Amino acid sequence: MKQVLQRLEANLDPAHPTGVTVLAYGEISAALLVPGLDGKVAKRMSGFADAAMAQDYCTLVDEYIATVRDAGIRVVETQVVMIERGDRPPVVYLVQPLLKDLGNQLLHSAADPDLAAAVGVVMDRVWTLHQDTPETAIDAQLSNWSFTVADDPVLLDVGTPFVRSGSGYRFDQEILLSAIPPGLRAYYRRKGDVATYMDDYFSPRLVAVDLLGNFIKEGATRRLPEGIVAANEWLESHDLEPIARAEVDETTSRMPRRSSCSSGCGDSTVRRADCCVGSTTSSCLGGCRGKALANPAVASISVGLWSDLVGG
Ligand SMILES: Nc1ncnc2c1ncn2[C@@H]1O[C@H](COP(=O)(O)OP(=O)(O)O)[C@@H](O)[C@H]1O
Ligand SMILES: [Mg+2]
Repeated sequence: MKQVLQRLEANLDPAHPTGVTVLAYGEISAALLVPGLDGKVAKRMSGFADAAMAQDYCTLVDEYIATVRDAGIRVVETQVVMIERGDRPPVVYLVQPLLKDLGNQLLHSAADPDLAAAVGVVMDRVWTLHQDTPETAIDAQLSNWSFTVADDPVLLDVGTPFVRSGSGYRFDQEILLSAIPPGLRAYYRRKGDVATYMDDYFSPRLVAVDLLGNFIKEGATRRLPEGIVAANEWLESHDLEPIARAEVDETTSRMPRRSSCSSGCGDSTVRRADCCVGSTTSSCLGGCRGKALANPAVASISVGLWSDLVGG
């Protein structure tokens, strides 16, 4: 597998990827189908300054998966592979089996009771982890799970290990900041926005708000009312405050528009604003010909500011 990925990287132009199929653009990675890795998804993470930073990330992801599994949550088998690139910084691939029945499909096709059950089952897992290991969290939006076994979904998004320790986050925020033009990075660091963004994942209620906001981003706004009812039932049974529609709208309006690339590539296959995942500020795996200004994760944490800067 490593050889296949090494060969891929040797020939890959992130601005004009050929020889791979882009399955999806996530919050912080691009999910690729790579010839030679049949039946698998290879999620490409960039933004590492050097091999030591990439290695730390690999170790952290492995530990994170083990912790989440220890809490009883199913996580898809994930191989974490660092690929060195000569004089360029390394990238890391998270390689997983290609799963079916993803939660974003449920949003469009599930019957009402099944969608409600999915919200509850996911929030149960958020709660279990919160009780078991409060300093570890997950991004529970439905698109991050496979529901082939509806009452015991499998988590597939492990690329941002939400792990806190007394001294702060173990996930190096520089990975998220790496695609931002250098002059702006200091601004984001000062604002501490990355930490603020990550903090929300440690509050089950705010995870529920985010999960509901994802209905809008996935183009399933019409299912939001029933999603809110399901989330509120779950919240009530856990003595947590209910969520109002306005809170979901308000949170979502601070996130990027995801219908097109915010750097203006005009690529209709790019579903999300966060298409720009290259390892430098000028590369974009979404086929963008412009500058890759928007780091997905950072754009989603502070889009008010971001849209001011890049014109939306
Ligand atoms: N193992 C997988 N099987 C099928 N689709 C996947 C798999 N992993 C990721 N994807 C697709 O890629 C998207 C982004 O992957 P994800 O792990 O959520 O990355 P990110 O952390 O960047 O959000 C997912 O929402 C899903 O659509
Ligand atoms: Mg995801």
